[in-house]
Order: sequence, then C-alpha cells, then structure tokens
Amino acid sequence: MTEAQYKVPKGLAGVSVTDTRISKSASDGSLVYRGYPISEIAANAGFEETAYLVLNGRLPTRSELGTFTRGLLSRSKVDRRIFDIMRGLGKGSHPIDVIRTAVSALGSVDDERTVQEKEMSIESKMSVLAANSRRVPRGEAPRGPKEGLGFAADLLQMLTPKEASDFDRWVFERVLIFYMEHDMNASSFTVRVVASTQADPYAAASAGLASLKGPLHGGANEAAMEMLLDVKDPSKAAKFVDSAIEDGRKLMGFGHRVYKAYDPRARLCKGYLKEMLEKRGEDDTLYRLCDAIEREMWERKKIPPNLDYYAAPIFYLLGIEVPLYTPIFAAARVFGWMAHYNEQVEENKLIRPDSTYVGPSGLKYAPIEKR
Ligand SMILES: CC(C)(COP(=O)(O)OP(=O)(O)OC[C@H]1O[C@@H](n2cnc3c(N)ncnc32)[C@H](O)[C@@H]1OP(=O)(O)O)[C@@H](O)C(=O)NCCC(=O)NCCS
Repeated sequence: MTEAQYKVPKGLAGVSVTDTRISKSASDGSLVYRGYPISEIAANAGFEETAYLVLNGRLPTRSELGTFTRGLLSRSKVDRRIFDIMRGLGKGSHPIDVIRTAVSALGSVDDERTVQEKEMSIESKMSVLAANSRRVPRGEAPRGPKEGLGFAADLLQMLTPKEASDFDRWVFERVLIFYMEHDMNASSFTVRVVASTQADPYAAASAGLASLKGPLHGGANEAAMEMLLDVKDPSKAAKFVDSAIEDGRKLMGFGHRVYKAYDPRARLCKGYLKEMLEKRGEDDTLYRLCDAIEREMWERKKIPPNLDYYAAPIFYLLGIEVPLYTPIFAAARVFGWMAHYNEQVEENKLIRPDSTYVGPSGLKYAPIEKR
C-alpha cells in the first residue's frame, strides 16, 4: 500500500523545514539576525556581542557581555592530547579534517558538565583549533590566545604573525560576523539533524564541520581565492568567464540558493576591500580583478558573487594562508551552529524524512554460483 507523501524539490530548495527565530536571508538581498538587519549589526556590533545575540535572542547588557567574553576566553585552552592527535594526522592532512577530528576527540577529553558549558567550550576552542589546523599537523608549535584582545583580533593574531591595522582588524571582525550565521544553510541543517537525535554538541559540531568542507559550501572561499590568483589580471576576466561558461564550469564564490540579485554580505565586503586598499595606499589590482569578474559574470549569467568571493581577498590582504580560509568560516559559524542546536533541542522532533522508492521490486534471490 502506498502511503501519503509530500514530494519536495531536489535539494529541498524553497522548502521551509522548521520555524526559526535565529536569522533569515531572503532573495531580495536582505538578511536579519534575531530581527536586526545585517547592515545594522555590521555598523555597530562586535563579534562577541553578535554571538550573544545569535545565541540568546537579544543584545547583551555590559555585564552579560563581560561574562560571555570571559567565559569564552577561560575555555580556550586546548588539552595537549588534542594537539597530539592533530600532530599525528601529519602535514598532508586537510585543515577541516584536522579540526573535525579534534572536535570529535574533544567530546571524549572535555570535562564540561552542562550542555551550555560544552557549547561554550566548543565555540571557544574552535578558533584555536582553526588557527592551528595547519601548523600543528606540520609539527609546528601551537599558537594560543592572548588575554584582552577580543575574539576577532585574537583569532587573527593566531592565524598570522603579520601586524594588522585597527581598520584591518575591524574588517576581519565584520567578515567573522557575516560568517557566524545564515539560517538553514547545509551545515546548520546538518547540525539540526544530529541535534534531533539527542546526540551531544560535539557530535553536532563535528557533523557541521563535515558538511562545511565541501566547495559548494564553506570550501568556496579557498576555491575563489585560488581562482583569483589564477586569473591575476583584470583584463583577462572576460576571457576567463567565457571559457568557464563554455566548459560548463562553476565559478567559485558565485551563486547562492537564496540570494539571486545580490548577497548583502558580499556587497559590504566589497566596500571593505576597496577601503582597505585605499587606506593602505596599495595597488588596487586585486579589487579591480574581483570587480571585473563580477561584472562579466553578471553580464553573461546574472549570477551575483556571494560572501566567499569577497571574504577571500580580504583574508589574502590580511596575510592569511589560503588553506585556513574555511577553518576561519568554521570558527565563526560554530556560534550559529550552537544556536541551531539549542533551538532544535528546545522544540525537538526527530528529523527523519521519507523517500520515494523508484527501484525494482519482487526480485527472486539467486544463489551466488548462479549470478
Ligand atoms: C551555491 C550554489 C550551490 C547554489 O546552487 P543552487 O541554488 O542549487 O543553484 P544551481 O546550482 O542549481 O544553479 C542554478 C543555475 O545557475 C548556474 N550557476 C549557479 N552557480 C553558478 C556558478 N557559481 N557559476 C556558474 N554557474 C552557476 C547553474 O549552472 C544553474 O544553471 P542552469 O540552470 O543553466 O543549469 C551554486 O551557486 C554554486 O555551486 N556556487 C559555487 C560554489 C559557491 O560559491 N558556494 C558558496 C555558496 S555561499
């Protein structure tokens, strides 16, 4: 007997799978975190303040912000056993695999008691793991957090020894804020599926990392930078876009499931990139290259760039190695993941969809010697 089924579009495109109060992106290019437009947050808020908002649903008071910030810093020390595991993976390992393995191991090593403490521990340590995801497997000494810098500046100093100006640090913090949360993206959905089975936050965060790794999701920022480094010259943009389209190749850092006209985060980052170069008085070839490819792509396909496309050159100017771009995404997105974990648990129903069987039926078993 066939039972009633709702058929949904492939990739669940356009399907609302849950109610949420955390954030919402829309095709007109709007994005809100807990009701605040992203431009409002970007202009005014710091990373910890935004993380508190995303996790708790409202902006913190000064004392709540102090407690939250101290709570993160006090949990940032990574156990030596975790670094040993990371080192054992060896220098050829992919940084996201390293972080995922470390977060998974953290589930056994951590002695936090409550779910909230476990979440804070993961949020806090994720940036240390991200910054060391290349160094430690290569046998280099881990870099650690420094007191009093704040989440973004601290992550930046762990990622690169290059001195950053106040403006550069401000921009880096904006990019982290943009990476923090984005409604029902693939990794947050993955986290919610795991949370719905009542597995712990370590399991959910490891699954989130696995989902983030792919080039259609978090891996796109690295792929976008490699593309920009490959094209190099703005005058080659048209030819490059033409040949990619002709070969049926996707341009990394372009396109989005939700934003069809523009990605508000990419637009803001484009402005920051320009301003960074102007403030430094540096050659603006990288900006012109990004702009040229964007224009050519829009002219031909009407596909806009996404956050990854403009985050990548910002990270590049900050002196961060390309394989660390997706780890940075993870260090920020983990706060969004934990907000989704909590929301899922609060209103839980096991996520267990159905499928439509289209294979054969009624086959007769053939003994192995007769196949
Ligand atoms: C993000 C992404 C997976 C969204 O995909 P989606 O909503 O499933 O949309 P589709 O992949 O079905 O794309 C719709 C159409 O636009 C085209 N398209 C989408 N992104 C494209 C890109 N980056 N380059 C070239 N063409 C693209 C598709 O080929 C498809 O064309 P068709 O209708 O002629 O077949 C997709 O845009 C993509 O792969 N982008 C590159 C990776 C990336 O930057 N990821 C980060 C996302 S934040």
